[in-house]
Amino acid sequence: MTSKTNSRSILVTSALYYANGHLHLGHIVESIQSDIWVRLQKLQGHDCIHVSGSDAHGTPIMLQAEKLGISSEALVTKIGKEHQAEFAAFLVNFDNFYSTHSKENQFFTELLYTRLRDKGDIATRTIKQAYDPVKNMFLPDRYVKGECPKCGSPDQYGDNCESCGATYSPTELKNPISVVSGVKPIEKESEHYFFKLENYAEYLKQWTRQGHLQEQIVNKLNEWFEAGLKQWDISRDGPYFGFPIPQTTDKFFYVWMDAPIGYIASFKNWCDKHPEIPFEKYWQKDSPCELYHFIGKDIIYFHALFWTAMLHGSDFRTPTAIYAHGFLTINGQKMSKSRGTFITAKNYLDHLQPEYLRYYFAAKLTDTIDDLDLNLDDFVSRVNADLIGKYVNIASRCASFITKHFAGELSATLADDVLYEKFVSESEQILQHFNARRYHRAIRDIMALADLANQFIDENKPWELVKKQDLAKVQTVCTQGLNLFRLLTIFLKPVLPEVAKNVETFLNIPPLSWEDIQNPLLSHTIQTYQPLMQRIDPKQVQAMIEQGKEMMSETPQPPKPSNDIAPTINYDDFAKVDLRIAKIINAEHVEGAEKLLKLTLSLGTENRQVFSGIKSAYTPESLIGKYTVMVANLAPRQMRFGLSEGMILAAGPGGSELWLLEPHDGAKEGMRVK
Ligand code: 2FM
Ligand code: ZN
Repeated sequence: MTSKTNSRSILVTSALYYANGHLHLGHIVESIQSDIWVRLQKLQGHDCIHVSGSDAHGTPIMLQAEKLGISSEALVTKIGKEHQAEFAAFLVNFDNFYSTHSKENQFFTELLYTRLRDKGDIATRTIKQAYDPVKNMFLPDRYVKGECPKCGSPDQYGDNCESCGATYSPTELKNPISVVSGVKPIEKESEHYFFKLENYAEYLKQWTRQGHLQEQIVNKLNEWFEAGLKQWDISRDGPYFGFPIPQTTDKFFYVWMDAPIGYIASFKNWCDKHPEIPFEKYWQKDSPCELYHFIGKDIIYFHALFWTAMLHGSDFRTPTAIYAHGFLTINGQKMSKSRGTFITAKNYLDHLQPEYLRYYFAAKLTDTIDDLDLNLDDFVSRVNADLIGKYVNIASRCASFITKHFAGELSATLADDVLYEKFVSESEQILQHFNARRYHRAIRDIMALADLANQFIDENKPWELVKKQDLAKVQTVCTQGLNLFRLLTIFLKPVLPEVAKNVETFLNIPPLSWEDIQNPLLSHTIQTYQPLMQRIDPKQVQAMIEQGKEMMSETPQPPKPSNDIAPTINYDDFAKVDLRIAKIINAEHVEGAEKLLKLTLSLGTENRQVFSGIKSAYTPESLIGKYTVMVANLAPRQMRFGLSEGMILAAGPGGSELWLLEPHDGAKEGMRVK
């Protein structure tokens, strides 16, 4: 049994979250996986610290903040707070949640960089890139769209074609446009800084085969090694939201350079608040502490190669292990907005308890990078059958007898010591499964034990013993049932922390630890039983899906930018559309709507109320006083939030990339647009 004397010092990280969007259930998979693991370590008495934070830098965050009319810093702070609240609601307990836009991160980014530079690991050379001549900025690959150079599919991103899978550079796209301004990008030269990853090829080949990675990943890495390691571009030109590269002008570290360094920064920030924790000891070369990164399989390259090489090259310790997980599918398919299965954290929490999902994910999570599926019917039946039908049922079947006939007092002995010992001996295997991230196997074993506990109650029938007046037996049988329930609660505590807390209150005991498995709870007074969990009503899931769909249909999405022209209409069709200049005289948030803003538009002679799906791109304050173009003769539509009397015009692919059409100065409300 583990005790404090052989406790370990462990640092766990979850991948940092981009601070420009809502969390969805895909993000929640990882945080639940790491949270369960960390809680398990703590339950065993190890020192285990879990850090994460916001991934703050880069072009998308900069542009979104600009559109919202706020600073990038303000956006990152706002979204970081929202993310923290959502994680807390899912009972994900980060010891420290910080941001890569922090003084600690700037310090460590410069430190790692200068150490690498001074060793000769940084190269510079001039490269050509797409440049937006209107916005005066270099364009990341995803900000150039055009026709695929291989198959001709329109509306493809600058890095790869979603239609034929070809990869290429943005300069190869046919008829390219800048997603930022809509103009044709030009090519422009600029000097870039590169990390010479190839200097670490031999080191990485060794390291990746030393048991730090999952087997499936080692195989993938071998392919990358065979293809040859390329130098990594770690610089970006201004304007860019990031840290300036020392001794350069207008060059910034690429977001992926400082993102993983954010793990160090978040931990340092924690240590500064907890001086008893020796920061150096955790990060020094050959550290005796353990370091685990939980990540999604899409960012293995960054962690296993770039990050590990950078740490090694700059004399920091390297990870003990990198644990990658697969992607989440819902009902067997990629999350889909139109099917209502693009489920945001908030969307889920509006309808369902967090522990249902924690349990279901635990029942599905493996130690591989295979994808895992949230099948919504299976979710309802499994949670109801396992948690309510099996686990909680044990307590509710036994507790009332103890309360009613023995004033809450448990017996001094168990009815079946052998059965109790079976649970104790199985605990080793359960612990091993959890530690090895085979949560699905741990849950399977736990539920098999729950079946045994229920079987024991079925066989001993305390309700009949009461009728027979065999009260001594009633007490030992129910004490046995409650003790088995207590063991199951210890096993499930990392997965169901809130339920476990309520069980501790019910059993009238201090917080349970893994060691408590050894000793049954006897001659002890418990509290009256209160229901611990409710069954899921399938209607709750349906309501969540409907809400997801509604969010989508709050307003029609603007068409994606495409070079395909829509089918021809005749002049009469066109003449029917009455386009007018409108002045936005008020704009406000809509309670309960994720995408909509409520606008009051003045047409000079009258005001109109219009609900517009531009909340992800604009704050209400930034809109008031602006002029725009509206369809003035659109039939009013009754929406969930009220009547919408027209529509305003905006361009862009959606989300934060949406631009209100704004007329030139001199336009007045009510003017007809010709
Ligand atoms: O892929 C992502 O979502 C990144 N924000 C993860 C960064 S992890 C770490 F390197 F910071
Ligand atoms: Zn193609």
